Amino acid sequence: MKTIILAVDREHPDESAIRQAGEILKNGGLVAFPTETVYGLGGDGLNAKSSEKIYAAKGRPSDNPLIIHIADLESLDRIVSHIPEKARMMAGEFWPGPLTMILKKSDAVPYETTGGLDSVAVRMPSHPVALSLIRLGGGYIAAPSANTSGRPSPTKAAHVEEDLTGRVDMILDGGEVGIGLESTIVDFTEEIPVILRPGYISQEMAEAVIGPVRMDRGLLITDEKVKPKAPGMKYRHYAPKAGLTIVEGSTEQVIKTINERSRILQAQGKQVGVIGTDETVGAYEAQVIKSIGTRQDEETIARHLFGLLREFDEEQVDHIFSESFDTPRMGQAIMNRLLKAAGHHLIHV
Ligand code: TXA
Ligand code: MG
Repeated sequence: MKTIILAVDREHPDESAIRQAGEILKNGGLVAFPTETVYGLGGDGLNAKSSEKIYAAKGRPSDNPLIIHIADLESLDRIVSHIPEKARMMAGEFWPGPLTMILKKSDAVPYETTGGLDSVAVRMPSHPVALSLIRLGGGYIAAPSANTSGRPSPTKAAHVEEDLTGRVDMILDGGEVGIGLESTIVDFTEEIPVILRPGYISQEMAEAVIGPVRMDRGLLITDEKVKPKAPGMKYRHYAPKAGLTIVEGSTEQVIKTINERSRILQAQGKQVGVIGTDETVGAYEAQVIKSIGTRQDEETIARHLFGLLREFDEEQVDHIFSESFDTPRMGQAIMNRLLKAAGHHLIHV
């Protein structure tokens, strides 16, 4: 398959380019596109064949359901059988934006899109390119993150090209995304809403709108027996080719420990990489040292995480050490992704 790559302006996307992409979707094809969180791999969410194509292009197990993206609230009625009051309140507060809600599905949604479940994940993104593509592409775009299954989610079009060239009909290049981590997923099929995946919208932000919200036990406990409720959260994800160890503790202790461990590995002839911040990169001794962002602005850390993990795959390093980023608001989301990338390999000093 030949993949057409089209650059589009984020704020004022060229209507004819989006129209062309929309036609591809309506005809059952696949288009990768930017959202404010990460790039998505889109197909018509109400077309079972399109969803099957998405799983094939990503190399994703078909029991792992897709998120349907909509562009206005009226579109919700067709794909869900019931909208709980709390879900309505959350939509009012956070849509369009980085919030995905799990609701009971209607018959219009094929089981191919929901991985066989009776619930459906729905999100209204805020990115102007995504919104206009949804409108011109039939109104219901099923889109997982536009990476090959297991790799870090793409935060720019070049990442999508690495993974999906030849596997999708078109890639819309809208530049770098703003948030860099996938949306917060909240399940409304239970009495007390449950966060299945942490993201930009934190538990506190949700609770300020609808009262008590739980965190899925599968997220908090690393016990193999407690399975996360979002099927996708059980898979090993984001892992760079080199081994990754997270070191947690006071800044001073973390730097000291990483440098000690690096020296030991280097003495064995190994190449070492370090993920630090603008505040600390000068203090490390290793072959490849990268800053993820600044602790003065946690959003920079979230935005650069996936890109940095991809960059390390290009480097000849045998092992990577990373600082821990348990920052005030997005810390839960950042650490959820980083711990997965590290296969939960964390040392506390
Ligand atoms: O920010 C995002 O959400 C991005 C952009 C493209 O919108 N999309 C994204 O999709 O991250 P994906 O497929 O990579 O992750 C969707 C997650 C998976 O973990 C999946 O198992 C879960 O949502 N999910 C989808 N439908 C579900 C359902 N009905 N019940 C429980 N979990 C569900
Ligand atoms: Mg994904």
